[in-house]
Formats: sequence, C-alpha cells, structure tokens
Amino acid sequence: MTSSAQARETFVPAMSAIAREAGALLLHFFHQKLKIEYKGEADLVTAADRASEKLIRERIAAQFPGHDILGEEQGLTDSGSEYRWYVDPLDGTTNFAHGYPVFCVSLGLERRSADTAHRIAAVVYDPTRDELFSAEQGSGARLNGEPIQVSKISELKECLVATGFPSHKRHKSPNIYFYHQVTLRTHGVRRAGSAALDLCSVACGRFDGFWEFNLNPWDTAAGVLILEEAGGKVTRFDGSPFQIDSRETLGSNGLVHDALLHEFQEIFAGRGLDPLPDPRIYPRAPATP
Ligand code: IPD
Ligand code: CA
Ligand code: CA
Repeated sequence: MTSSAQARETFVPAMSAIAREAGALLLHFFHQKLKIEYKGEADLVTAADRASEKLIRERIAAQFPGHDILGEEQGLTDSGSEYRWYVDPLDGTTNFAHGYPVFCVSLGLERRSADTAHRIAAVVYDPTRDELFSAEQGSGARLNGEPIQVSKISELKECLVATGFPSHKRHKSPNIYFYHQVTLRTHGVRRAGSAALDLCSVACGRFDGFWEFNLNPWDTAAGVLILEEAGGKVTRFDGSPFQIDSRETLGSNGLVHDALLHEFQEIFAGRGLDPLPDPRIYPRAPATP
C-alpha cells in the first residue's frame, strides 16, 4: 500500500475526529474566563492549550500506539517511530485569550525514513466556523469534505495576502517592513492571528499568499500540506524548498509566487523601498480626503 493510500484509508478520518473533539473542548473553554499565563513577554498560554494537547495525545496514543508526537506544549516524544505527529492544540492563543474567534486545532502527520520525511496527512479544524480542512499526500485538499483549490489571481496588485508577527523576540522581527511594502503592492495584508488558518485560507482561495518569519513545525506542518495539495506552492524566502524546520514560510497560489519572491529579494536588498511615513509630520499635516 502506498503512503498516500494508507493516509486516505487510515489517517484522515481518525485525525478529523480527534481535531473535532479537541475543537469542541476549545469552544467549551472559549466561553469561560480563563487565566492567561505567559511563556514569554507576549507569548500566551491558557488551560485550554494544555487540555487540548492532553486530549490529542491520549487519542493518538490509543489509536496509533508508538507514533511520535511533537506538540507545542509538551514537546517531543521520540521513540524512533517512522510516524511523527505535529500538534498545535490551539493555534491562535492570543485571539482565543482575548475572545476574538479566530483559532484552530492543527494536526500534521509525517512519515520518516533514514534520510527523508514526507508530510502524508493533515487536518486543521476551526471550531468557531465548524470548518475542517484536510489533505492527504497526492490526493488533494478538502474543506468539510469538498475539494478545494487555490485562487487563480495572477497579478500581485490584485491579491489579498496574509502574514503574522512572532510573539517571541518580537523586537528582532523585520516583518513590519515587509508588511508595509507588500501592503502597497496588493489589495492588502491581513494579520488574522492563526498561521494554520492563514495557510488554509490560501488553500481555499480566500487569500492569495501568506508569509511569516520564525514559525514552528507545529504551526506549519498541516497547513503546508493542505496548501500544496490545493495546488499552491510553499518555499523559503529565497525560493528554496520549504522544510519543516525552515523558519521561513512563503505560501501562495503558485501564480504570484515569483512576484512575491521578487518583492522579498528587493526588500532584503533594501532596494526600491517606499519609505515608512514619518509619524512626526502627521500631527502638523494630517491626511486630507
Ligand atoms: C501563533 C499564531 C500566529 C503567529 C504566531 C504563532 P500560537 O501560534 O499562529 O498567527 O503569528 O507566530 O506563534 O502561539 O497561537 O499557537
Ligand atoms: Ca501556533
Ligand atoms: Ca499553539
């Protein structure tokens, strides 16, 4: 049996059930006032993150004993299995903690051998909209069971794109420059607060592109496979292949990928940048209609 056939027959239905159960748990917590704890200056965690990962780990252990798991809250369980799950039990914690209903459960499954690793199955579940994105390697991507595809927009200036800003070492992120330049060259840039949902939104054509610095494997593992299976493209910022530990994620519908890569090269080289407006000037000369 090929890995994609195995994924189709055995993994996605179980992954979907686990993600739905964890999503229902998150919704239950969402309607309560939870204590916010800090992993870093602006890196939040709640009881919901921990409870969701605990549930997911219990379900994986019961149904797929021996599989390894890398989860955001509990780290890596590594027994040398050829299967590794990447678990973000709550992607969008800051939104969740503030009552902003944009968050999800993200589960990616990788099959590893001595020298290669393939993303073979993925689900991302948004419990607030009851939207379940899924994909199997080589079998396309789906939203609530219906096939999805990336958008057909080929001009960067007609695109709606998305990005995110890291919560860890945020003062070191140069992303505000990218946000500014790409905003001026597109219909706009959204910062919705869940990288997994951003990638899925490119997969189903709501966004045409997405980038972010310094994402972790649990943020990207599922969304990248879903986007690629929907016909999209994911690379590093120089166009080289995306790897799970790349820490550079540039995804698109494929048609505008080269244009986005070009913008990134220009910005990294400091060429052709529209200067950020000087805030000291604004009070003296506010924008006129
Ligand atoms: C975060 C979200 C956010 C992204 C951050 C991530 P978390 O994940 O995906 O959109 O901008 O970089 O850390 O902490 O909510 O699981
Ligand atoms: Ca995350
Ligand atoms: Ca998380």
